[in-house]
Amino acid sequence: MFSCAHGAEGIVKESIASAGWRLSFSRPGFVTAKHNDNAPLPTDIFIRTASRSLGSGKSSNADELIERLIESISTLSLPLDHLHVWPRDRAPIGRFDFEPGSDEVSMAVASRILERLGPERLRCSAANEIAQPSEEVLDVVLVDPSHWFFGTHTATTLPTRWPGGVQPVSPEYEPISRAYYKAAEAIAWSGFDLRPGDLAVEVGSAPGGACGRLLEMGLDVIGIDPAEMDPRIAEHPRFMHYAARAGDLPRRIYRGAKWLLVDSTVKPDATLSTVRNIVDSRETSIRGCLITMKLGDYERASQIPRWRREVERWRPERIEIRHLARNRCEVCFAVTLRT
Ligand SMILES: C[S@@+](CC[C@H](N)C(=O)[O-])C[C@H]1O[C@@H](n2cnc3c(N)ncnc32)[C@H](O)[C@@H]1O
Repeated sequence: MFSCAHGAEGIVKESIASAGWRLSFSRPGFVTAKHNDNAPLPTDIFIRTASRSLGSGKSSNADELIERLIESISTLSLPLDHLHVWPRDRAPIGRFDFEPGSDEVSMAVASRILERLGPERLRCSAANEIAQPSEEVLDVVLVDPSHWFFGTHTATTLPTRWPGGVQPVSPEYEPISRAYYKAAEAIAWSGFDLRPGDLAVEVGSAPGGACGRLLEMGLDVIGIDPAEMDPRIAEHPRFMHYAARAGDLPRRIYRGAKWLLVDSTVKPDATLSTVRNIVDSRETSIRGCLITMKLGDYERASQIPRWRREVERWRPERIEIRHLARNRCEVCFAVTLRT
């Protein structure tokens, strides 16, 4: 069973079907499929979580569903290390302010499951903790509050360790925009080693959510955006603003920058040509780029291989692409450059 953003299920279905999976029950943001062989769980840019399904239950009585869950895990080697419970995305990210991850109902369900399963079935003392690599996680997806799917997965990469593939973040201050969470997730997922004192440049920085995250992490930050920055960022002693479009600025302003974040409302081809001009210059020594590529609609995902080939021309060390949990209809390219 797979979770993805509401609207991305069509691409997920296409990608798993081409890997030999037979499609089964699905809803927006949730897909299930079967495989004849004991195939490994597939990965894809748009798959947020993947678990081996143990079954499902439908009832308006939560205790009945928990009974069904207990029955379905009875053949497993118990206890499992963690319990992750989350709801299917009920809307596209950002629409009506919708954000993915646990909500009041799933949190209440999680506590009830934890209590009923007890230490003989679950090793954790709280639900929705971050799992460590190789730990076994019991997954419960609330497709609807009265329709649950159960499964398990082994934690490996960072997103597989987060409950529902959504990074738990506790901001120090009220974030200036939701881009704070998107930047936090991109930085963590990329594995880039951002350190206090490093210089980061963000293209498309206004109003300043992502810059807020970078400043909170102790970096020096340059923001490039013709629009105004929020005063809490603009007046920060480690922040500098160029009120211009990235393409209109000389490349020397990127001198000394180790990290480049791009989140401008610009078409992907134009974004890539701007970034290429920056990273190709002898005046710059960027180590890693986190580039948000706006799709507009999911059909445009077919362009991702072409964009990837374009980035390969920069001769990077590594390219990773993911539809981050906090991405709207856009994907994040994490590009590690040779220095
Ligand atoms: C999604 S918003 C950025 C949000 C921001 N990253 C944050 O953390 O709050 C997109 C921004 O891209 C800016 N933009 C559009 N074209 C640009 C360009 N050529 N150079 C720099 N910024 C640009 C817009 O003015 C807008 O503020």
